[in-house]
Order: sequence, then C-alpha cells, then structure tokens
Amino acid sequence: MTQLPGLLDTEAIRKDFPILDRQVHDGRKLVYLDNAATSQKPRQVLDALSEYYERYNANVHRGVHVLAEEATALYEGARDKVAAFVNAPSRDEVIFTKNASESLNLVANMLGWADEPYRVDHETEIVITEMEHHSNIVPWQLLAQRTGAKLKWFGLTDDGRLDLSNIDEIITEKTKIVSFVLVSNILGTVNPVEAIVRRAQEVGALVCVDASQAAPHMPLDVQALQADFVAFTGHKMCGPTGIGVLWGRQELLEDLPPFLGGGEMIETVSMHSSTYAPAPHKFEAGTPPIAQAVGMGAAIDYLTSIGMDKILAHEHALTEYAVKRLTEVPDLRIIGPTTAEDRGAAISFTLGDIHPHDVGQVLDEQGIAVRVGHHCARPVCLRYGIPATTRASFYLYSTPAEIDALVDGLEHVRNFFG
Ligand code: ALA
Repeated sequence: MTQLPGLLDTEAIRKDFPILDRQVHDGRKLVYLDNAATSQKPRQVLDALSEYYERYNANVHRGVHVLAEEATALYEGARDKVAAFVNAPSRDEVIFTKNASESLNLVANMLGWADEPYRVDHETEIVITEMEHHSNIVPWQLLAQRTGAKLKWFGLTDDGRLDLSNIDEIITEKTKIVSFVLVSNILGTVNPVEAIVRRAQEVGALVCVDASQAAPHMPLDVQALQADFVAFTGHKMCGPTGIGVLWGRQELLEDLPPFLGGGEMIETVSMHSSTYAPAPHKFEAGTPPIAQAVGMGAAIDYLTSIGMDKILAHEHALTEYAVKRLTEVPDLRIIGPTTAEDRGAAISFTLGDIHPHDVGQVLDEQGIAVRVGHHCARPVCLRYGIPATTRASFYLYSTPAEIDALVDGLEHVRNFFG
C-alpha cells in the first residue's frame, strides 16, 4: 500500500462514513472521487440530524415552550460554531442561507438595493474572474443588467492561474465590488487573495470571496483574508445540503438593506412600513434551515476534531501523488496548475479525444465516481478550447489506493476506446 508523508489515518476516518462501504455495479467497491461536488457525511452528522428531529424539533425564535428554546439554542449554537471555525470577530456576522449560491446572490442584491456609498449603478463597475463558478457569475450579470453597471473580469493564464498583469486597469476607482473564488472548483487553483484585496482596498472597493472549495479543505480565517464577505456551503464540508453561510463585516451588515422580506427579519411591521431586526436576522427571512444548521455545526465539530491543518496536509500529499500519477497516463492533459503547491484537491483533465462523458461512464462501471462536464464553470472550458473535463476530487477520507484505482481505470478507458 502506498504510504505518503502527511496522510491522515484514513482507515479510522473511513469507519465514520457508512456510505464508503457501499458497493456499486454488482459488487464493485465504491471509489468516491467527486468530493468537490459534494462530500460524504460522517455518522456524527447523520446522528446529529436524527437526534435533532427525534428530540428537539420546533421552530426557532418564536416559542416559549421547551422544545422551541432548545431548538433555538441548537440553531444559534451552530452559528457560534461557524463563527469560531472561520475566526469571525462576531457571531452576528454569520448569516445562514441555503447554499453558497444564495450567499453570493444575497451580496449582489444587498449592493443592488443599497444607498451610497455601496450602491452599484450605471456609473460603477463589478469585477469577477474567468474561473468563477456560475454562482459567482450569474448574480453579477443580473445585477449589471438591472443597474447598468459594467461587468469586468480577470482572464486566465495558459497554466490555469489568474492573469493579474492588468490588475490596475481591471480594478479602478469605479469598481464597487470584486468577487472571486479562493479555490477554483474546476482548475483547483488557489488564488492570490492578498494582491487582489490590496488593489481593491486602494480604490475603496468591497471584496467578496467564494470559499466554497476552500472552507472544507483548509483553515479559513476571514480576518486574515481581509475580505468584506465570504461565502461557503455546508454540504461540501461533511454537512447536509440546504445550508450555506455568508460571513460579512458587521458594519456593512448594519448598513446594507435586506434582500428577502418576511417573518423573523423584522423589528416592527405596520401596513405602511417595517423596520428590520439587527443582522444576522435581518437577512434570514422565514423559517431558517434549522436541522441543516445543526448538522453543519456537527460537521464543524467533526472537522475540527481532526484538524483543518491536518486535512490540508493530507489533501496536499494526495494531490501531489495524483498529479504525478496522472501525468504518467498517456494523452492525459491536466487543465489547471500541475504543481501541488498552489492547488487544491480537485483535478480536471482531458484524455486524448475521448469525450469526458465517456470517460466518466467507463470509470463509473468500475465503481469510480468522478464528475464530468463543465462543472458549472463553462467560461473556463471555453478559455481552454475544450467542451468539458473529467474531474477527480479528494477529501479527508480519500486514499492513495483510490488514486491508483483511478489511474488503472483510465488505462481501462484508453483500452476500451482503442
Ligand atoms: N459546485 C459543485 C461542483 O463543482 C457542484 O461540482
């Protein structure tokens, strides 16, 4: 068995994930390499979800009865866990949403409805990058269409990094918001936050970081990032689906207007007008995803008990090994950085002229789950002149043996297609 320095005790960790014991396609051992799409869930999270529904289920912030108080304590306790996990200065800066897409849409809509100095209008500019997930492109396109603001973006270098050579022309005095991904879901690239934040601060622009592919995999410190908003999602970090987070700087959340209106986000309501509750409640209209927040809290406990720095080291070792092994496969082209230093654990590639959907299907027949397609980042495929990629992505329970299985599987794909 291949041993690499820095690996976690995956034999022990995998026992926490019942689904990893599954067999597929008549007895094939499941090799789950689609973690950038969604992670699997440990028993600790599954138990927290069922315990919540079996013992505590009630609506939050509304009842005086015991269950309502306990459910509220669990929901708000999950907010405390998220705040500690990202080193937020205040728990009130943590807004629960349904996913990272909703978090990013929330930022775009806050700015669209804001007064000066935050308002995005026809005289202002929005900056994104060509490696964004659609969830960090479309909300800004919608905002630009509605307000007349100009949408600009950083292009990509041939080796899958941001081209910041024209940073002073892209981010200008007119820029209101710069929104970019910390770790690309398709290229794996880890972006140079500091350089972008420095330029944004020079011109007084706000910074929003999409940390969906970072929060599950590395220590995340919103204060060190120096961003104004950070978005991520629960289901990629061992938590349930249906729960996302938007962290925002307190003074901004106080100043910016709500997007969704409804119960729980108000202070008073009359037939003529309403006043709003303080953040974060101002941005959480309606019954929130209570069980999902509790599950996310359990996921944070789980990841923290292992250690985010150890998870990062594990994935780094695996990624280095995977890049080395994949590079040995004839006709395989990695789309993205080919060094492990500045990349995350999602590796996209093409295999000769075999269509990624065919690659994915033949791998699936061998029990190997990968994602194929444009990965909700179609502009990246357009940039590199490819219709789609095959993507393998790892997590804390992934092993070198699974990478070996992938490489063997790709050999089989090559033989199958001649
Ligand atoms: N954003 C997820 C992915 O990259 C769904 O697969």
